[in-house]
Amino acid sequence: MRNFLKKITHPFLKLGYEIYYHKPRTFCYDSICIQVHPDVFPPQLTISTKILLDFISEKELENKSFLELGCGSGIISLFATKKGAKVTASDINTTALDFLSENALKNNLQLNSVESDLFQSINEPTFDCIIINPPYYPKKPKNIKEQAWFCGEHFEYFEALFPQLKSYIIATNETYMILSEDCELEKIKAIASKSGIAFSMVVEKKVVGEKNYIFSLTSL
Ligand SMILES: C[S@@+](CC[C@H](N)C(=O)[O-])C[C@H]1O[C@@H](n2cnc3c(N)ncnc32)[C@H](O)[C@@H]1O
Repeated sequence: MRNFLKKITHPFLKLGYEIYYHKPRTFCYDSICIQVHPDVFPPQLTISTKILLDFISEKELENKSFLELGCGSGIISLFATKKGAKVTASDINTTALDFLSENALKNNLQLNSVESDLFQSINEPTFDCIIINPPYYPKKPKNIKEQAWFCGEHFEYFEALFPQLKSYIIATNETYMILSEDCELEKIKAIASKSGIAFSMVVEKKVVGEKNYIFSLTSL
């Protein structure tokens, strides 16, 4: 984890990132093209979003209810919509949600987008499929942009998430979370187990020397 924190806070990398990402950038997947605002998690510069996109491309989603909790650019939600799912895309970042509405229109796709702190403003009792790509570096976020990366010094994001997520996990649905070897996996699993949630790995993928994992989350 420290290595990655060093990487993303390294002055040259930070400067390069800021120069490249000073204006909205285009990202495309499976003929869906979107504009991504600089204050939004950049799927074009990171690995986790693409791994999740490839993962759901194999899934049967026709007519399934689908939640992307913390949707960021919303590319996963748009792709799930294209695959026939009834999608709810939520985030606390209103810029992300404004851009998502525009991007949905441009791609002729319809989904439900909701401003919500975790499950606070989600009205449905559960979904057939829930996808979460969480912020996982233990540092206090200074602004909305950093909330895409940092989960709080004491893992506050996860401490709040799992007790809420518990009632959404039922025997007949699927909940997935992507994490990497670069984060404190055992700590996150221990927080989940306090809420009776277990992790089992369904995908392991090494990209640019870093192992990424998709976990299926079930009730203990
Ligand atoms: C790592 S990014 C993932 C974005 C997108 N799902 C993807 O895979 O590209 C994490 C997202 O979670 C959102 N987020 C952070 N804390 C949140 C909270 N308490 N409630 C809802 N969304 C949150 C961030 O704004 C960010 O968009």
